[in-house]
Amino acid sequence: MTDATPWWRSAVIYQVYIRSFADGNGDGVGDIAGLRARLGHLADLGVDAIWINPWYPSPLHDAGYDVSDYRAIEPRFGTLDEAGALIAEAHGRGLRVILDIVPNHTSNEHPWFREALAGEHRERYVFRDSGDSPPNDWQAMFGGGAWTRLPDGTWYLHLFDVTQPDLNWDDADVRADFAETLRFWFDRGVDGFRIDVANSLVKEEGLPDVGERQHHDPGPHPHWDRDEVHEIYREWRGIADTYDPPRVFVAEAWVPEADRFARYLRPDELHTAFNFDFLKAAWTAPALRRSIERTLREHAAVGAPPTWVLSNHDVARHVSRLARDPDDGIGTSLDSMLGVPADLELGTRRARAAALLIFALPGGAYVYQGDELGLPEVEDLPEDVLDDPTWRRSGHTQRGRDGCRVPIPWSGSAAPFGFGPEGSTPWLPQPTWFARYTAEREAADPGSMLSLYRRALRLRRQLPALGDGDLTWLDVPEGALGFARTPGFALLLNLDAAPFALPAHAEVVLRSGPLSDGLLAEDTAVWLSL
Ligand code: GLC
Repeated sequence: MTDATPWWRSAVIYQVYIRSFADGNGDGVGDIAGLRARLGHLADLGVDAIWINPWYPSPLHDAGYDVSDYRAIEPRFGTLDEAGALIAEAHGRGLRVILDIVPNHTSNEHPWFREALAGEHRERYVFRDSGDSPPNDWQAMFGGGAWTRLPDGTWYLHLFDVTQPDLNWDDADVRADFAETLRFWFDRGVDGFRIDVANSLVKEEGLPDVGERQHHDPGPHPHWDRDEVHEIYREWRGIADTYDPPRVFVAEAWVPEADRFARYLRPDELHTAFNFDFLKAAWTAPALRRSIERTLREHAAVGAPPTWVLSNHDVARHVSRLARDPDDGIGTSLDSMLGVPADLELGTRRARAAALLIFALPGGAYVYQGDELGLPEVEDLPEDVLDDPTWRRSGHTQRGRDGCRVPIPWSGSAAPFGFGPEGSTPWLPQPTWFARYTAEREAADPGSMLSLYRRALRLRRQLPALGDGDLTWLDVPEGALGFARTPGFALLLNLDAAPFALPAHAEVVLRSGPLSDGLLAEDTAVWLSL
């Protein structure tokens, strides 16, 4: 990596799920004031940027992914002035700031949808008159049909919650308005955007049935990954490139086919995308190697840097996923893991090794708030506090994503664990065992996950081999992974091989667990200087 390499090719980006990060005013909901007060934690951690989940005015039916005004701040989170101050303070600490843009749908409280309800400018959304049955068979992501009928008999499309009407991207107003939103935030110093469901937006003309096709089946689909969506991103890239320094995009695109996925990352489109293929890979050497090779290949084809993701606000925390046997066939959701036996000590050991893996791989990496504390999923939130629309829309059969969204424990031995002022009540209850995972406690413990993350990220800045670039696979026992990077670096990870001796090296610069008699045991990773 040279000094001329753009920052986003190697960046470690920390995801701030704002309503659960830190609560400055004591109303139980995280906010900008809380985030500003905790920027020191992020600078000490050694990340390069923060990505903030939607902070715009919203009724919060889907945690802010239901936006009612794209160019303002939700009052529960703060004000536009505070947002400006946060951006300046983050920049002052060398942290870049990425926001979240939600172009597939607005909130049903967005002024445009209110107008549409009153019969005005319905062309901005997807309305159809189809009598008593919905216009087609499309299903909503959170359960139930994707169409809702209004009292006047017309139907509107919502691929997510009923409160999230889909926009019509064939409409010129829609395109112009999003371009204005990008400029609005770029002009305020924002360094980039994460694009929510970037593979949606465009729907096939005529809105044909999906039929038997499953959501992530390969091949053309009437509302996922349409070719026409790329035109939109070329326009957005054009806008980002008019800024100095150029602003950047990261796509949230769950696209199963490698070549289709890579199309989002062509040089005149988006800069990076979340690597969900890797996130979903089982904790076995062949599965991880397959995903890493595929990732490197697909990104190299378009010259884009890969990213490595273990967790985010939509999946169960990886300590808890890794606490399950990889053969148990669990998915990424809490609902897929319930009832499957878990060993959190094992999950933690693997999560430590996984952190060394992602920070050593070529490209950038994401840290979801709480990853650095080794926080497990809260699997047993009381049903009456569940807030995810999945819970509602599934007829209370799927618990959904709240277990990874519980407010962060910062300090102390009882709720609110420093999340908010003493006496405040976090919007989701924190379990008593959060006491073991506070940032304060872990900062004082050299053996903690936080200490490991800090050391890894400090070294990542010092070692010229890490970040953007290439890797060479090493010969290692079956059940292990090993690769070298130039100059003079190697990572070894034992997944389920017998303990083995490290290759010739100058020094062990970092390890996720103890070496016994110099051997690398199961679920342990090391960084070597060669
Ligand atoms: C994305 C977000 C998720 C949200 C959905 C609808 O997948 O990450 O949290 O519910 O889009 O906007």
